[in-house]
Amino acid sequence: MAKTLRVGMIGHGFMGKAHSNAWRQAPFFFPLKAKLEMHTLCGRNTAAVQTARAQLGWQVAASDWREVVESPLIDVIDIATPNDSHAQIAVAAARAGKHVLCEKPLALTVKEAEAMLAAAQRAKVVHMVCHNYRRVPAIAQAKKLIADGAIGQIYHYYARYAQDWLVDPEAPIWWKLQKGISGSGAHGDINVHLIDLARYLVGEFKEVCGMMNTFVKERPLPDAAPLQQNPAPKPAAKTVTHPKPAATPASLSPAAAPATPMGKVTVDDAALFIGRFECGALANLEATRYASGRKNHMSLEINGAKGSLCFDFEHMNWLKFCDRASLPDRQGFRDILVTQPGGVHPFTGQWWWAGHLLGYEHTFIHTIADFVNACADGKPVQPTFEDGLRNQRVLEAVEESAKTRGWVKV
Ligand SMILES: NC(=O)c1ccc[n+]([C@@H]2O[C@H](COP(=O)([O-])OP(=O)(O)OC[C@H]3O[C@@H](n4cnc5c(N)ncnc54)[C@H](O)[C@@H]3O)[C@@H](O)[C@H]2O)c1
Repeated sequence: MAKTLRVGMIGHGFMGKAHSNAWRQAPFFFPLKAKLEMHTLCGRNTAAVQTARAQLGWQVAASDWREVVESPLIDVIDIATPNDSHAQIAVAAARAGKHVLCEKPLALTVKEAEAMLAAAQRAKVVHMVCHNYRRVPAIAQAKKLIADGAIGQIYHYYARYAQDWLVDPEAPIWWKLQKGISGSGAHGDINVHLIDLARYLVGEFKEVCGMMNTFVKERPLPDAAPLQQNPAPKPAAKTVTHPKPAATPASLSPAAAPATPMGKVTVDDAALFIGRFECGALANLEATRYASGRKNHMSLEINGAKGSLCFDFEHMNWLKFCDRASLPDRQGFRDILVTQPGGVHPFTGQWWWAGHLLGYEHTFIHTIADFVNACADGKPVQPTFEDGLRNQRVLEAVEESAKTRGWVKV
């Protein structure tokens, strides 16, 4: 009879919702090797976690992650908290013999990531980082085409992850803009996905040269901070009075504007780097939260000796493929709708008929389905904490390069 895995999830924000949906849907659509119980949901605020538990479908609510990690009722820990708590939760979970799924970036630093990998290896538990984009069907199909030699030797990996939620200078500070909690900004948050996909699709980085910038250095502190529930220190508050236009006649002058409490942004807003892979291919990566009109534009192009691949997450069901073997008068990019069932395209056979499209949430369902089967088999599943550590090394090398304005070996 199939084993039952009882899951404890820490965090119930954006990713908590995506993961809850995945834990619920995975057994519905995928033939899993273990049964699942969505056992305990953990958050720091007792009332908020109770509400989330009821809405997201968990059995028990808890407010101390240590209790969940140590509970004999739990087999698997899913970490969906801000980055500064990943290491301590993952290390404690592994020591308690639990399999661990951890959100990205794996850690704040290389040192933390090393400790997490060592703890998981020592405890012989299954460990995985939630780089869900590896399981977009079109990305998995790109991996298959590259492995089949369809584009030949790779020359270029060009990738851009562009969002625009910080273009407004009045957008408030929250944990993703605080180094102590997030480690870095656009770099660790979204560049890390591009780095992970680069390593997945092309290979290991050899050296990098990067630059980073913070365009808006101070932002309003949030009035109420629902997302700021972390124990890390709040940014130092500073009172700034916005200047009023000098020409306003005194009779029309509004009442003095209240001072806006401001906090310092301590992470990068954008990070770009070029690099060289071990295989000789060249890399060009860019992550920004300042690209007006770009919401979640995670795009990449890979050029090889026999052809090219091109992908944009905002059109995630399609993969563009240029095949140099086709007749010269019809060469160019063709759009492959990656939804064919019957084992033609990865993951899609468990879903709908061809052309019935998939979305963001499916990437988490695929990730969790593979993780559950690995836990049932006691076998590794990519991307492991070792991948998380290697990604972290690239992140740090780019930061070092930006600081020293030179090339850094990974
Ligand atoms: N895979 C992806 O594409 C993706 C997308 C977004 C975020 N993330 C990652 O997911 C993680 C969470 O991000 P989010 O956007 O869901 O954040 P969020 O702010 O929406 O939610 C964080 C949750 O963690 C809880 N929390 C914080 N500290 C805690 C503690 N000590 N104990 C228990 N609960 C605690 C908060 O109460 C909240 O429920 C981050 O590491 C982030 O980088 C990944």
